[in-house]
Amino acid sequence: MRCLRLLLRAMLMGIRKAVLRDLRDCISTQLLVIIGGVMMVVVVVRQMQGPMDVLIKEEIVQPKNMFATMTPQETEPQVVFKSGMGIYNTSRIPALIHHKDMFLAFCEARKDTSHDIGNIHIVLRRGKRKDWKVEWGEIQVVASKHGYRAMNPVPIVDKVLDVILLVYHLIPAWVSQWKLVRDGVYNQYIMVTRSFDNGETWTMAKDITASTLGQMRPPPALYAPGVAKSRKKSQK
Ligand SMILES: *[C@@H]1O[C@H](CO)[C@@H](O)[C@H](O)[C@H]1NC(C)=O
Repeated sequence: MRCLRLLLRAMLMGIRKAVLRDLRDCISTQLLVIIGGVMMVVVVVRQMQGPMDVLIKEEIVQPKNMFATMTPQETEPQVVFKSGMGIYNTSRIPALIHHKDMFLAFCEARKDTSHDIGNIHIVLRRGKRKDWKVEWGEIQVVASKHGYRAMNPVPIVDKVLDVILLVYHLIPAWVSQWKLVRDGVYNQYIMVTRSFDNGETWTMAKDITASTLGQMRPPPALYAPGVAKSRKKSQK
């Protein structure tokens, strides 16, 4: 009991010579070793808890300088999507991601008009990066449904699972945005499709409306998916 009291005093008042001497008298060396060990463990655990968060934050803030060793070259701007390409009237709402030396460029390809109405497909061009040049592939249709407009492509790179996800929504082709709002019901579907080969092929799109819009009360009349962020290996 005396030892405990002395130990408490040492902790509260700071370690003074007199207190230390008294402590040494009553506590065996073994006990001191045990107490020292426990304190060490506490310090190490606390150290591990703190700075880890800081490390992860720093990694997010600082972009990896992947081109650091290359000399910048002048390059001609390349048109990836233009209006009036193939069967389409207008290209709008682009989205670009990069994964494993491949750029994936998506956009809305509007078939019937230049406006937010009519049949709209979501198309993709894959661009292989070779130093400072990008070799763009053919236009491929990633999302379409007859009588609907597929809109607002939101590609997501999951670097952990090495999967590309594409979220978009489907609205009946000729229902105007104003009518969607006025009716106050969601006349649309939220869809997701995945690619396991960096955008070459895509899975059958899955309807996730019930688990997304369906959970919102009241449901939004007009909904559009927004900008996403890639998941890095260091993040949980
Ligand atoms: C594209 O649609 C607009 C109407 O939004 C129309 O005026 C224009 O002629 C169309 N262009 C082509 C190439 O079909």
